[in-house]
Amino acid sequence: MGFLNKLLGRTTTEGENTMSKLNIGIILGSTRQGRLSPQVGEWVLQVANQRGDANYEIVDIADFKLPLLGEADATEQATAWNTKLASLDGFVFIVQEYNHSISASLKNALDYARDAWNNKAAGIVSYGSVGGARAAEHLRGILGELSVADVRIHPALSLFTDFENGTVFIPADLHLVNLNGMLDQVNAWSGALKTLRS
Ligand SMILES: Cc1cc2nc3c(=O)[nH]c(=O)nc-3n(C[C@H](O)[C@H](O)[C@H](O)COP(=O)(O)O)c2cc1C
Repeated sequence: MGFLNKLLGRTTTEGENTMSKLNIGIILGSTRQGRLSPQVGEWVLQVANQRGDANYEIVDIADFKLPLLGEADATEQATAWNTKLASLDGFVFIVQEYNHSISASLKNALDYARDAWNNKAAGIVSYGSVGGARAAEHLRGILGELSVADVRIHPALSLFTDFENGTVFIPADLHLVNLNGMLDQVNAWSGALKTLRS
């Protein structure tokens, strides 16, 4: 729409702008009681909303009440989950390290969809004792199989220095640069990949 407006010499209206913005879901990867992921997701959402370049929203896996895949009839939950994913052009995964990998709830939620992930882009924000780096690298392997293009820049948060007493999230300033760099890449790749899906 932007190039068309330029050609026609008109400026985009506010409504058109919102319509043409990409939809980026910030996916909370943990579901346990007392989890830290909502604090991290809120930080990402706040920074992202200040940019005004996409429609960002928190997507909480816990809301979808997905049983372990194949364990029970979950047609309703699976449909709701796939519908939500289908409405998104890109993702930011909030990833926590469980036994050097991603949480079981995130893996389960990844397994519940296929087409709805395909040909989209994703960024990773991880946390753990070493920044959740091992979990993030495992996630990259899984995303490859789901045809999700994961971007390079990766804010990695420390449980020791970015969380007071391991519970209250107070990110060091340096992460802001990486977060914005990651969001730049997610937006660029999400827009490019959208052309493959239309
Ligand atoms: C089952 C389990 C395994 C964990 N294993 C690791 C680990 O291997 N490496 C690490 O850095 N942190 C590990 N942790 C610490 C978590 O990264 C930390 O508790 C984090 O807050 C979990 O994310 P959440 O609060 O969003 O659930 C583990 C925590 C749990 C519950």
